Amino acid sequence: MFTGVLLPEMKIQGSPMYLHLGKMLGILIVGIVVLCVASVEVDTVVTRATPGLNSPSKLWWAKEITPDFHVAGRLTERQIKYASEAGFRSILSLFMYETDDYGSFGGEYLPTTAEAWAAAHMAGLQYVALIDGNADWASVDTIQKFADVLPALRRPILLHCDRGYTITFVTLMYMANQTRYNSSFEPKIYSEQFYKVTAAMGLDFTHDDLKEVVANVTGEEVVEKPPKHNCDPEEWLDFWLAHPVSKNWYVAGQIRQCHIKVLEATGFKAVVNMRLGLTDGDKPTQERVTLLNIKDGPSTYGNTSTPPRQDLSTLEHNKINSHHSTDYISVKSKLNFEIENPGEFGDDIGYNEEIEANHVRHTSSLKYYHIPVSPDTNFTSEMFQQVRDTLIEAGQNGPVLLHCGDGRRVAYFGVLAAAVQEGHDLQWALKRVQELGFEVSPDSRPDVYKMYCESLGESTTSRKEEL
Ligand SMILES: *[C@@H]1O[C@H](CO)[C@@H](O)[C@H](O)[C@H]1NC(C)=O
Ligand SMILES: *[C@@H]1O[C@H](CO)[C@@H](O)[C@H](O)[C@H]1NC(C)=O
Ligand SMILES: *[C@@H]1O[C@H](CO)[C@@H](O)[C@H](O)[C@H]1NC(C)=O
Ligand SMILES: *[C@@H]1O[C@H](CO)[C@@H](O)[C@H](O)[C@H]1NC(C)=O
Ligand SMILES: *[C@@H]1O[C@H](CO)[C@@H](O)[C@H](O)[C@H]1NC(C)=O
Repeated sequence: MFTGVLLPEMKIQGSPMYLHLGKMLGILIVGIVVLCVASVEVDTVVTRATPGLNSPSKLWWAKEITPDFHVAGRLTERQIKYASEAGFRSILSLFMYETDDYGSFGGEYLPTTAEAWAAAHMAGLQYVALIDGNADWASVDTIQKFADVLPALRRPILLHCDRGYTITFVTLMYMANQTRYNSSFEPKIYSEQFYKVTAAMGLDFTHDDLKEVVANVTGEEVVEKPPKHNCDPEEWLDFWLAHPVSKNWYVAGQIRQCHIKVLEATGFKAVVNMRLGLTDGDKPTQERVTLLNIKDGPSTYGNTSTPPRQDLSTLEHNKINSHHSTDYISVKSKLNFEIENPGEFGDDIGYNEEIEANHVRHTSSLKYYHIPVSPDTNFTSEMFQQVRDTLIEAGQNGPVLLHCGDGRRVAYFGVLAAAVQEGHDLQWALKRVQELGFEVSPDSRPDVYKMYCESLGESTTSRKEEL
């Protein structure tokens, strides 16, 4: 940053009187460099937080634009309820889905607007649907409608369309219009930011018609060659829940049974599961599943004073909202919380990796790799060395989805694997992992930072030595 400007001057001003100043500047520069390392420049609108507000394992697929606006694709009823449990306060659906316009995601039912409204209402969320499915979404009119309903919605808001594509456009165009006409609006979105942000999210708005709308809203020139993402497949959005890393690398939290078919149809070739299996030697190691109206903790097996997590008494104790009616779970439920989650490969103890492995192997052509990595450990470059070849092999089949429970482990390892395979440096890896919502720096995750430095051939101390 400033080093290029200040250092030569220090050499010129080498007289004793200035030496002291030089040292002070030196200290200042060290401070600046350390700051730069701690916060890399990102292409996202804001420095994103870990995806999923208060519950990353339930909402890892929500993509933050600003702390108040997160985007997604068309939601199931479970996802609507999870949105509430994770701390969202309203949902805006870009499209209205009429009574015959229900959908399916790999066989899982996607509710109509009336049904979605009812589910949101039961979960304590505000809910609005904005435009007719046939209306022109890429229009000044839609952006205007969006601006009109926003003041009435409690924040944070989960904004969605079918695949998280058009709603991202409308939201950013709203922000661009605010940037143009409202000087106190933050964060600012000009054409340049718009294209950087969307490329970082793996979204392509570089079609000529859309470029004109962008120019019209921003009041700037049409951008001739905007940056474009490098995602493979380009149509990865059919599985909109994934977070694209680079080219054929994608990361995710726990996927559901119904997702396997969608992944296959989207063009994925392999799934890498980094969650723990049933046991490690003699030690039982099942992780948790997500359960409706149940907090994410405590641990699977309990301890001397607390029974296992899916024991009725423990569940009773860990309800999120004790006032929900049993209808919140289903019309047939006798309880107002969930006990098991088979849709997420869960059994009566917790998450069962064997069920997922069997399901992927027997119902799809996807290659399945299991690379168990504990979430509660410090990562090292030795650990990466051990899994590196398998990851690279998985990445050579074509599009690959790495998943764990909440997307954290796979973000750390997936970005590193992509960097190694594609020959990127440390700065690229730090930027990309931050754009996914995970900060890696000497302060926030020194272990991961060290793993990155050592694996990408950069010494952790080289920066200090340069000075
Ligand atoms: C942009 O903002 C101005 C001023 O608030 C408003 O008059 C205009 O309708 C907005 N345009 C869009 C596309 O929302
Ligand atoms: C301008 O932006 C500020 C800050 O986001 C906001 O509070 C205010 O309501 C905006 N004004 C208009 C007219 O939209
Ligand atoms: C820009 O938007 C205005 C208002 O809707 C419209 O009249 C005009 O034709 C648009 N211009 C372009 C180039 O799209
Ligand atoms: C047992 O687990 C519960 C819930 O996680 C925790 O609050 C408690 O402190 C633990 N007790 C012991 C003895 O470890
Ligand atoms: C990880 O490393 C930190 C800092 O070196 C240490 O305090 C912590 O105990 C370690 N955690 C584990 C699980 O080893």
